[in-house]
Amino acid sequence: MTLLESVLADEMISVKKELQDAYVLGIPNELTQVIINLINNAKDAFKHNSILLREITLRVKKKGEFVIIEVSDNGGGIAKEHIEKIFEPYFTTKHKSRGTGLGLFMSRMICEQGLGGTLDVKSSKKSSIFSIKIPLDRDEEENIKRA
Ligand SMILES: Nc1ncnc2c1ncn2[C@@H]1O[C@H](COP(=O)(O)OP(=O)(O)OP(=O)(O)O)[C@@H](O)[C@H]1O
Ligand SMILES: [Mg+2]
Repeated sequence: MTLLESVLADEMISVKKELQDAYVLGIPNELTQVIINLINNAKDAFKHNSILLREITLRVKKKGEFVIIEVSDNGGGIAKEHIEKIFEPYFTTKHKSRGTGLGLFMSRMICEQGLGGTLDVKSSKKSSIFSIKIPLDRDEEENIKRA
């Protein structure tokens, strides 16, 4: 997020954070890549839909044996006829010079194969909520409790 903050400020996007510390097993860069993909998509949606009050919310919340990382935006949501397809490779609504349609396909693959979790979406007329669900690293979580 530190890396992205200046870009987001330039685009007049405010970021709300509701964070909780959590440990998971996996390659940190892979999770970072997924979050960057989701934020870039939100950035594109704000532009495409000419949204003036731009807000991204990043939530990290533990639930049982899992951590849920939510990236939501008020960028206009995803059309019903598109939402079934957005995780397919090469599905894009962007001009071909701008989007390859691989972002979400790769992101879901990383969440499933790399992190042993899932990546899903919910959308309304105004907003999109992408949620990453990853199993917690039990050993590390136990260590925190003990400390
Ligand atoms: N936050 C969002 N708001 C609205 N539409 C979205 C959002 N995220 C994804 N989409 C839709 O899902 C499509 C697929 O997204 P995906 O990231 O896979 O590809 P892309 O952004 O078009 O291209 P790229 O490969 O450069 O990421 C987008 O073209 C867009 O129509
Ligand atoms: Mg994308």
